[in-house]
Amino acid sequence: DKGNHRHFMAKEIEEQPEVIGHTLAEYVDFAEGTVRVPEKLPFDFAALDRITITACGTASYAGLTAKYWFERIARLPTEVDIASEFRYREAPLPKNGLAIVVSQSGETADTLAALRYCKQQGQHTLAIVNVPESTIARESEMVFRTYAGPEIGVASTKAFTCQLTALACLAILAGKLRGTLTLEQERELVSALIMAPRQMTEILKEEKHIADVAREIANARDVLFLGRGLNYPIALEGALKLKEISYIHAEGYAAGELKHGPIALIDENVPVIVIAPHDELYDKTISNMEEVAARGGKIVLLTDDHGMTDNEHKAFRSIRVPKAHPFVSPLLYAVPVQLLAYHAAVFIGTDVDQPRNLAKSVTVE
Ligand code: M6R
Repeated sequence: DKGNHRHFMAKEIEEQPEVIGHTLAEYVDFAEGTVRVPEKLPFDFAALDRITITACGTASYAGLTAKYWFERIARLPTEVDIASEFRYREAPLPKNGLAIVVSQSGETADTLAALRYCKQQGQHTLAIVNVPESTIARESEMVFRTYAGPEIGVASTKAFTCQLTALACLAILAGKLRGTLTLEQERELVSALIMAPRQMTEILKEEKHIADVAREIANARDVLFLGRGLNYPIALEGALKLKEISYIHAEGYAAGELKHGPIALIDENVPVIVIAPHDELYDKTISNMEEVAARGGKIVLLTDDHGMTDNEHKAFRSIRVPKAHPFVSPLLYAVPVQLLAYHAAVFIGTDVDQPRNLAKSVTVE
């Protein structure tokens, strides 16, 4: 049931603050301001040497975000690969390794094959899934469910941010059990997560403005998305979302990679969406943005109050995102990129919930 929404995708975008809250309720002890330690963990986080994350599409971008979290917070080397590549490359895996697979449906054929390979290789396995009775959930040693509820739109939205939420909690748990996080640091990260749903609601209030910006990019032939660090995966996700539902060609790049090739694409017809929260990488991202502006690129700047004050004047359009702890910024910046894609597609008139050539669950290899 779409309720009073035009599309399932719109409904699912709007549900995010609520379902993130449900997912947090599962993994966070609100009274203590800490993560919950599961009763039976089938492996010892402190003894792990490596995490290997595999997934497809949007789920793989949740996995890529988690790499930054696991490495930073838990000092755990983490590898991420798309399942269709990983499953065939016979990767050697360490003795004390944990394999994490991420899947909304829990039925994606390549992700399932990657999980089975990791099991054969003696890895501990953990699945982040939205459908608890799915094959991937059944075959994993441990399941971290996301509580997004049914996702009908082919373009994944709320499942993605719930995957991020579950992975963020898992990374904090890893840091806690490996002793790389103090109790104070743990509480700081958990409180940032607890604030995220409310901050997402604030972004949703900007929907009309974001729709206006989307209309301005809807005529473009190509769109680039740039981000760094935790928001590099969000740039990839923004580009995937835009291409899958609006059929506009879009690519996401790590902002620092631009000058190694893609900057050649820039002219006054190319909108460039720059994801730039005011964090430790902000200055670097802004200098990449200036390189784009100098070549006539149409900048759409996604930033917080600080970035607005400094740099709004350099952008063609801008979208304000609430100031948040850098740790949770991917959760927040996911929302405006979803809304940009959604409104561009609505403006163009494509079939948003059932884009051409795509299936909700890819059970073929
Ligand atoms: O069900 P899964 O999470 O395993 O699906 C993975 C991808 O097929 C999926 O995320 C796909 O990329 C979406 N259409 C993206 O919006």
